Amino acid sequence: MSPLIEARGLVRVYQVRRGLFGRPIPVRAVDGVSLTVMPGETLGIVGESGSGKSTLGRMLLGVDDAQEGEVLFEGRPMPAMNTAEWRALRAKMQLVYQDPLAALDRRLTIAVQIGEPLEIHDLLPKEQRASHVAELMAAVGLRSDQADRYPHELSGGQRQRAVIARALASRPRLLVCDEPVSALDVSIQAQVVNMMRDLQEEHRIAMVFISHDLKVVRNIADRVAVMYLGRIVEEASSDVLFKAPQHPYTQALVSSVPVPGQLLEGRVILQGEPPNPANRPAGCAFHPRCPIARDICRSAVPQLRRISEGRAAACHVVAGEPVQAEA
Ligand SMILES: Nc1ncnc2c1ncn2[C@@H]1O[C@H](COP(=O)(O)OP(=O)(O)OP(=O)(O)O)[C@@H](O)[C@H]1O
Ligand code: SF4
Ligand SMILES: [Mg+2]
Repeated sequence: MSPLIEARGLVRVYQVRRGLFGRPIPVRAVDGVSLTVMPGETLGIVGESGSGKSTLGRMLLGVDDAQEGEVLFEGRPMPAMNTAEWRALRAKMQLVYQDPLAALDRRLTIAVQIGEPLEIHDLLPKEQRASHVAELMAAVGLRSDQADRYPHELSGGQRQRAVIARALASRPRLLVCDEPVSALDVSIQAQVVNMMRDLQEEHRIAMVFISHDLKVVRNIADRVAVMYLGRIVEEASSDVLFKAPQHPYTQALVSSVPVPGQLLEGRVILQGEPPNPANRPAGCAFHPRCPIARDICRSAVPQLRRISEGRAAACHVVAGEPVQAEA
C-alpha cells in the first residue's frame, strides 16, 4: 500500500522580529520533517507549544508553503496554493481547527454551512444535498431540529460536531485536526474524540491529529510523532510509544501523564525552560533539559534513525553512538 500523504524534508522558516524595532531573525518552525500517513491511518502529532505542530499541519495541506522539501498527495506533488488543481484537491483534504466558533459563519445556519463544500466543489446533484447534510448531522450526533440553528445557538461541543460534519461533507481522504477538542469541556472531549474515531474508521479517512494532550492522542492515534523545536524526535506506533518511550523528551512527556497500571518505573521530570525556536540550542536542541545529555549532544544534531520496525528516534544515546557530527 502506498502512502496517502508523504512529507519529505519539510522546512518552514518565519522571519520574526525581536521587539518593535528589532531586525527580523529567521525562526525554523519546521526543520526538516519527513513523514507518511497511510490511507485510513491516524497519525498523532504531539509536542510542547511552539514545537511546530500547527505549521506542519498547514504545510501538509499546502496552506503554508515549504521553503524546502515537498509534500506528495497520492504520490503526486501538492499543487501550489490557490491554483485550480489545489482547490480541486482541497475537497479531499480538510482541516479542523481548535475553535469552532471562529471556523463557522455567525450569519449562516449550521445546515447551510455543513452543505457549503458540496456547493463549492459541486459534489452532488442539488436535490440530494439536503439529505446528505441530514445524514452528516446524524453521523456526528446532531439532531435534525438543530439544522436551522446559528452557531451561537449551539454548545461548544455541538459547534465542533458541525465543523466536523462540514469537513466530512466532501468525503475527504485526509483530515488534519489541529487541537480539535482542546477548547471543549473535558466531559465533552471524550465523546467528540470517540465520534471522530468511529467516523474515521467507518469511512477509512486518514487523519493527522495534532494535540498537546497525550491522553487524547493515545486514545485516537495508530502512530505518533513527537516534535521538539520543529523536528520529529521520536516516532512509533501509539501502543509502543506510550508503553516504552525511547527518547528522553518522549519519556518526560509520557511520564507527565500517569496511566493506571502502566506507570514508568523511573519517572522523568521535564526540567528547564520551554523550547524557544528563536534561540535553538546547538547540537541536540533538547540537551539543556536532558537528564542524560553527553558532550556530543552539545555539538552534534542527532538524526532521526530507525531503531526497530516502524520505530525511530533522534538521540545519540538511544540510537547508539553517532557515526559523525552532523551539525
Ligand atoms: N505566521 C507566523 N509568523 C511568525 N512566526 C510564526 C508564525 N506561525 C508560527 N510561528 C512560529 O513558529 C513556531 C511554531 O509555531 P506553531 O504554531 O507551529 O507551534 P505549535 O506546536 O502548533 O504550538 P501550539 O501548541 O502553541 O499551538 C513558533 O515559534 C511560532 O511562534
Ligand atoms: S541526543 Fe543527547 S541531549 Fe538529545 S535527547 Fe539524546 S541524550 Fe538527550
Ligand atoms: Mg498549534
